[in-house]
Amino acid sequence: MKKKGLKGVILSGGRATRLLPSTLVTSKQLLPVYDKPMIYYPLSILMMAGIRDVMIVSTSQDLYRFQRLFEDGGHLGLRISYGVQEEPQGIAHALLVAEGFVGDDHVSLVLGDNIFYAETLEETLNKMSIPAPGATVFGYEVHRAERYGVFRFDETGKPVEILEKPKNPPSNYAVTGLYFYDHKVMEICHGLKPSHRGELEITDVNNAYLALGELSVVKLGRGSAWFDSGTFEDLHKASTYVQIIQETHNIKIACIEEIAFNRGYINRDQLKHLADLQKKSSYGEYLYRLLEE
Ligand code: G1P
Repeated sequence: MKKKGLKGVILSGGRATRLLPSTLVTSKQLLPVYDKPMIYYPLSILMMAGIRDVMIVSTSQDLYRFQRLFEDGGHLGLRISYGVQEEPQGIAHALLVAEGFVGDDHVSLVLGDNIFYAETLEETLNKMSIPAPGATVFGYEVHRAERYGVFRFDETGKPVEILEKPKNPPSNYAVTGLYFYDHKVMEICHGLKPSHRGELEITDVNNAYLALGELSVVKLGRGSAWFDSGTFEDLHKASTYVQIIQETHNIKIACIEEIAFNRGYINRDQLKHLADLQKKSSYGEYLYRLLEE
């Protein structure tokens, strides 16, 4: 039997009405989080999990913007393709859009507005690069759990249920927007019914894996940060966080060119070319620095 691969899907749809007027003529996932477009962050997550085949799912109105930004991904040593989700039909629906692209492989889905950072993140994601049976999701302790998918744990700390935006959250652990699934996920998605908000819910997919006893939960602990940038406050917080980490550690978070270079997807000449294209910004300067190291 052919070994399964791991593909990546970034959901960058939605109308982002909570960010109007900033999203009147552009997509939320292209707004800057400090010094780079928001979508660089989830793309870097997939790259750190060793994924080179990526599909970006967005509305037909916005898709061309992502196509202009990334083209076919060849300049990063990736293969990027595009899928359309016309209406906000739910996160799980994006997997159905990507069904042909995923084929028989495993898939990681990441939400285009989710920003993760931890010093150990690359190590955690590296472990995910070998396709494993079942599903893996990531939990993060939050203050206002009612805004998210929330875990309910039993007395032994085992997750028993995930509730989508519960009025009375049974824990403070939110399900973040990064998911790893085996190929069963498509069958599960085909069996879903729209929720009361008319969407195919990713929480229903995760509960299906939970019922099968095949859901692993990785808790992102102290020293990890997670933002979903749905509001101006979140966006501002994420930008400030990125700026502070980058300046204090003298690194860049989610520098997709750096990841591609370190992984040997692109060579020095290709990196130099990418640096030349943006030489007037501090981002471009950083790329030159990588060439000198
Ligand atoms: C979605 C999911 C939710 C998850 C969140 C993470 O919420 O439905 O379970 O916790 O993403 O960002 P939404 O973005 O639809 O509000």
